[in-house]
Amino acid sequence: TPDAPTATAPLPPPHAPLLLRALRGEQSLPRPPVWLMRQAGRYMSIFRDFSDKYTFRERSENAGIACELSLQPLRAFGVDAVILFSDILTPLPALGFAFDIQRGRGPVIAEPVRCAADVDTRLRRLESSAQAAFALPFVGEALRELQATLADAPDRPALLGFIGAPFTLAAYLVEGESGKSGGQRLKRMIYSVEGQRLFHRLLSSITESLAEYAVYQIDSGADAVQLFDSWAHHLPPAHYPQLSLQYSMRLATAVHERRPDVPLILYANGSCGKMRCVREALRAAGAVRPQPLACLGLDWKTNMSAARRLLGRDMALQGNLDPMLLEVGERAHLKWELEQCVRSAAGGAHIVNLGHGVTQSTPESMVAALCEYVQELEYAEWYR
Ligand code: CP3
Repeated sequence: TPDAPTATAPLPPPHAPLLLRALRGEQSLPRPPVWLMRQAGRYMSIFRDFSDKYTFRERSENAGIACELSLQPLRAFGVDAVILFSDILTPLPALGFAFDIQRGRGPVIAEPVRCAADVDTRLRRLESSAQAAFALPFVGEALRELQATLADAPDRPALLGFIGAPFTLAAYLVEGESGKSGGQRLKRMIYSVEGQRLFHRLLSSITESLAEYAVYQIDSGADAVQLFDSWAHHLPPAHYPQLSLQYSMRLATAVHERRPDVPLILYANGSCGKMRCVREALRAAGAVRPQPLACLGLDWKTNMSAARRLLGRDMALQGNLDPMLLEVGERAHLKWELEQCVRSAAGGAHIVNLGHGVTQSTPESMVAALCEYVQELEYAEWYR
């Protein structure tokens, strides 16, 4: 049974961005906010003008270009959140690991973690948010510029910062790239006694660095921060609490203690088997209100109404339309899917999103249609 509402955090004023109001658990919004994971991407023709000319790192590490790319989906679709154009791997060079993103291949870490010394001596740590600012100046520049631009926008959208969850980033550091070995290197590490100990040292260190990085993003203007645990579905349920959630919670708690007004979203891939763990972890975090995690992002395989039942009305839920609905679905069918999704999230705050990133072959017109449908939605009695 859902918990009774107990939130005592002050509600933001009515002119605050819709997304922030939803994240604070406000129940009487005119409609749910909408944004899409990976909303800035090659599916947009205006984006390709830049991706044909500049490499990913040039685009994401030049504050001017990053701002422009972050704003494209806002201008095109009127989404309720602008997410910084960057990548979960962006902080890795500051931790001692260079990376590149190659077309058709995805992210590649040239010299990934291959031995204990890579964790115990080569891996660097960001000791403070000032150190994060020094190592990654373009992130703060872009966020400050975006915050200044958005301040003047009508129906001001929220500005989202983001980081990789410690587990997902550690998995990339060990694998070196996505997909190639199907997670074999990662599994070899966690299914051995010494390897698992090393993996925990890696996780502890990057958790601390990522907390500093998140605080830096907040102090540069991010209204909320999303943790992407995109690799969490690679973990069997028995290992998820210790190898992933524990560190995401440690990170969320550390950031929340220092910047309590900034809501945090955890996107957990494979969320369907993880909701109970999240609920238990939040219970264990105690009676702190607002809780360190304001919102759980669900993947598209997860049953939204089951999530609502399990997590109660205090937690905002984000998601979880199938990205393929936008890629290959019929426009006339989209509205029905959206309404089903919104209905099944009833009883608490909901942020409309996909259950994973927008795919590269998604027609822009489908993203436009989705955003229009959400903007036309009016929460009627039956939604609540
Ligand atoms: O959401 C947004 O619009 C903001 C930008 C954003 C990017 N990556 C830009 C990007 C965000 C939030 C991310 C997060 C990210 N990066 C995740 C978590 C989300 C998820 O998909 O699970 C992950 C796992 C990564 C790692 C990564 N970076 C992958 C798997 C890829 C794909 C490679 C490919 O060929 O598509 C990237 C590259 C990347 N990051 C692109 C973009 C727009 C595409 C390549 C390009 O633009 O050159």
